[in-house]
Amino acid sequence: MKVLGIETSCDETAAAVVDNGNSIMSNVIASQVDIHARYGGIVPEVASRQHLLAIVPVVEKAMADAAVSWQDINGIAVTFGPGLAGSLLVGVNMAKAIAMARGLPLIGVNHLEAHICANWLENGKAVEFPCLCLIVSGGHSDLILMKGQTQFEKLGQTRDDAAGEALDKAARILGLGYPGGPAIEQAAEKGIPLWSFPRAWLKGSYDFSFSGLKTSLWHLAQKGQVSVADTAASFQEAIVDVLVNKTVEAASDLGVKSVLLSGGVAANHMLRERFAARSLLPVFVPSSILCTDNAAMVAACGYYRFQAGEFSGYDLDVVPGLSLG
Ligand code: KG4
Ligand code: ZN
Repeated sequence: MKVLGIETSCDETAAAVVDNGNSIMSNVIASQVDIHARYGGIVPEVASRQHLLAIVPVVEKAMADAAVSWQDINGIAVTFGPGLAGSLLVGVNMAKAIAMARGLPLIGVNHLEAHICANWLENGKAVEFPCLCLIVSGGHSDLILMKGQTQFEKLGQTRDDAAGEALDKAARILGLGYPGGPAIEQAAEKGIPLWSFPRAWLKGSYDFSFSGLKTSLWHLAQKGQVSVADTAASFQEAIVDVLVNKTVEAASDLGVKSVLLSGGVAANHMLRERFAARSLLPVFVPSSILCTDNAAMVAACGYYRFQAGEFSGYDLDVVPGLSLG
């Protein structure tokens, strides 16, 4: 079954064709990062206008790269939340227009579930349930227990800043630009983690908190005369330390069979290496391009929902504050 996926929840306009939920036939991403970098973060109004300009060429390229015609497509999957309302509307309206014109089934996909499904694009056959999923993105740091392909239970979330948000804000404080995660990672390579930033362990809870860490960085930066590389290395160390230790402990408490990482922060090399070194269970993580926002993960997620007999009506609406589990 070939699914066309469409993703416009934030600042990437993306479309992809995926066969049977795991074979990527095309994966096209038009990033707006250079435009938003000028403002130091995403400007929602600008993002939705850029989606409007990019969506048709991006979908056309996804179809051309996959060398398929509309007769070959069996269903359309689109992110309907969480995300920026104006951005989501562009993708959802494009998906509805295609589905209606071609008489194709439509499925609205949860962006967080799609991030998790990126793991099936490469590792699908080896993943065993139940598994523990850590979603670390710009807006979320969620721990989710996954009991089956479409069964999710949220165990914890961030109480303030998400991991990616904290990295983006830290990069701004250190003058490293946007997006902050890759900028901090690059700067940290030349530094030593000399500063011991506070870690919010929140014992007895699966929640995360990163705002205290960010404030601590701000106070340190105010003092001046600190090396940006050493500060970036120390900040990255603190975030990775909390994410890895809390997730590995939760996996052991719950007796799951594997751990799945996903979301933009999962592209971080130190996070990936630490998980591999620390976890006794198999740890799955998509390749970097499938960690950050893309539409192949949306198509894969749509495939499993179609397989479960689920469809959305052509009155599908966006849900900017949607959560998972
Ligand atoms: O999943 P994503 O592309 O979009 C959302 O759904 O939010 O995640 C974006 C987040 C940003 O905060 C970005 O700074 C972070 O992922 N990120 C990284 C890396 N690449 C992207 N954080 C740490 N290391 C990276 N290499
Ligand atoms: Zn995302």
